[in-house]
Amino acid sequence: MTVYAHNAIGVLDSGVGGLTVVQEICRQMPHERVVYFGDTARMPYGPRSYEEVRRFALEIIRFLQTQEIKMVVVACNSATAAGIEYYQESCSIPVLGVIEPGVRAALAYTKNKRVGVIGTTGTIGSGAYQKALAREQPALQIIGRACPLFVLLVENDLIDTPEAKIIARSYLDPLKAAGIDTLILGCTHYPLMSGLIQETVGAGVKLVSSAEETASEVKAILAKNGLLNPSRSAPRHSFFVSGKPASFERIGSKLLQQEIRAYQVILER
Ligand code: DGL
Repeated sequence: MTVYAHNAIGVLDSGVGGLTVVQEICRQMPHERVVYFGDTARMPYGPRSYEEVRRFALEIIRFLQTQEIKMVVVACNSATAAGIEYYQESCSIPVLGVIEPGVRAALAYTKNKRVGVIGTTGTIGSGAYQKALAREQPALQIIGRACPLFVLLVENDLIDTPEAKIIARSYLDPLKAAGIDTLILGCTHYPLMSGLIQETVGAGVKLVSSAEETASEVKAILAKNGLLNPSRSAPRHSFFVSGKPASFERIGSKLLQQEIRAYQVILER
């Protein structure tokens, strides 16, 4: 497969979460085109087995490769934790996950060396963040917590409800009590509810999302491979979903501050 600089960046997630990474890609590389796939019919990925998530992610990567892409961003922590090396091995173009960039961002911030990490059941259960953090700084105290209901709050637009506040407190109060100064949002959906998370843990805790760091790494990889798009015209992004597009379009348009249209693609079941 020949790869050209004017090809798009392929991005995938189980739903709208990966759009937080797209937002940052657009900010840092306004001339790059994105082809996005949200597997909304099969989300959430968090409670699924690693084997199943790997299979879904590979199916999506195969689809993205039919769309003239030059690299893949697995903008989903659960899919990254399930097997980023596996996707890298089966692809001839660069494949980047979101866990290593998030770890770097957290290490750059923490002062008291007490770091919290929240994510889906799959991500926290895999120990991927805990291992990556400990490898870099063995003396770090790491408090991990799965927050499985957060993804559903985001996807169903329920963040501003009293129930969401109660759920947030029950997940996050123990982290606050442990005295963390940094909290990794180890799920790409969570930046979409960062207001509620910040309010719950308090202003003294720095929230770290991997979006910014991931986008800088995308830029570095493209530059290294001579694949940064030389065109200066405004890109036309494409959005695909496996479920019904309406709610994805509504949440995505709000986040990206532009009307987005998404097309439904039925993948193999
Ligand atoms: N946004 C995803 C993540 O970063 C997936 C959430 C899910 O589908 O459970 O983990």
